[in-house]
Amino acid sequence: MVFECPRGVRDFGPERMGVRRHVEDSIGKVFSSFGYRQVGTPTFEFVELFEAKSGPEIMQHLYVFEDKGGRRLCLRPEATASVARMYASELRSLPKPLRLSYSGPMFRYEEPQKGRYREFWQAGVELFGAKGPQADSEAITLVFTCLEQLGLRFRLRISHIGVLRTLLSAQGFDEAGTDKIIQLLDKGDMKSVREKVKDSSFMKLMELSGSADVIKEAASIVAEEKVKELLSELSEVLALLDSAGVGYEVDFGMARGLDYYTGIVFDARAEGLGAQDQICGGGRYDDLVELFGGPATPAVGFAFGIDRIIEAMTGQGVEAPGRVTDVYVASASEAVRPQAFRIAVQLRKSNSALTIDHDISGRRLNRALQHASEQKARFAVIVGERELAKDSVVLKDMASQKQEEVRIKDLAERLA
Ligand code: HAM
Repeated sequence: MVFECPRGVRDFGPERMGVRRHVEDSIGKVFSSFGYRQVGTPTFEFVELFEAKSGPEIMQHLYVFEDKGGRRLCLRPEATASVARMYASELRSLPKPLRLSYSGPMFRYEEPQKGRYREFWQAGVELFGAKGPQADSEAITLVFTCLEQLGLRFRLRISHIGVLRTLLSAQGFDEAGTDKIIQLLDKGDMKSVREKVKDSSFMKLMELSGSADVIKEAASIVAEEKVKELLSELSEVLALLDSAGVGYEVDFGMARGLDYYTGIVFDARAEGLGAQDQICGGGRYDDLVELFGGPATPAVGFAFGIDRIIEAMTGQGVEAPGRVTDVYVASASEAVRPQAFRIAVQLRKSNSALTIDHDISGRRLNRALQHASEQKARFAVIVGERELAKDSVVLKDMASQKQEEVRIKDLAERLA
């Protein structure tokens, strides 16, 4: 009998897992360099948490189940709601702004295709207790820095849900009607938007995109004072991004399907990924913490889709370092195996950053060295009786094939 994975989930062999770890580690390091501290939330939650404000896009794709106690639970489709819940109940009294990060698997019952899975990985941040251009520009700069660090080619788009909401409300749309139009925009269904919103200046705004200069044009299209205020805030964010060398494009026709956004929204798209090219999405959500019973708390955040980032790297030919064996310790004869074992243990102790492989299969020396080269080891340490008598081993550079005798006590330093 052959067992297969369920649809939309995948195994990660060592190569694939190595690439995933590389991407997660690289992003995690940048998060931490910006002062974000990692938190963990449960993999399943009460369904109500997402019913509250996530919107139909998330609700349609929820993995819902009942536990033995009859409680309605679901696998988490994203982490923002969970982190906001935790903030509202446990972390509200911590000094603000509070910078939190997370990474882990999320679950959405979607039709599987390239770049769309039922189990996928996200790494994201949530910044609580900070409002205004400084906080928004920090979040966007963080997205830019992470993707640049990975060596990806991408486009960063910025829009403002607050502007859209204010305009639609002035048109007489209630909250549910506004959410519906924002979802249509997110799907790129401009035809339906045009049918619902008759206002020509709104549609003109939806077609505006480009550099920070389009803000002036936007301000000339709309009459509402509130929108003008939001646009001037947005231009402050853009000025900060310009000063930090962050490349972006303003696109007022861009919206995000999740219902909790209230202000600036942004996404990143990678070149060459096809339909599922959105590798990051985020924005400001100032009402969610209060909705979860916490104090009114401004918040902004985003999440990367790790799987799509990996696919984009492959598509763009961006190298992800695979597994490296730094040192392979081999025995020249049966008699010295215990000493070879001891040398491998000592080397690991003296430099934990090195990956040290040790022949435990009883291979003859030439076979062991062949295995070392298959493992792409940089060095082989050959332990032989003659050298041991002089408290030494042979160090072989696997690329140049050059060998030298090195004292055991100097080995760690020589390999550092
Ligand atoms: P989201 O846009 O739904 O936002 O997801 C973020 C990223 O997760 C997407 O840009 C995409 O790369 C990846 N993603 C989503 N669904 C799938 C899937 N089925 N398969 C593979 N990758 C997928 C959020 O989840 C928000 N929580 C982001 C946020 C944080 N907003 C504020 N704070």
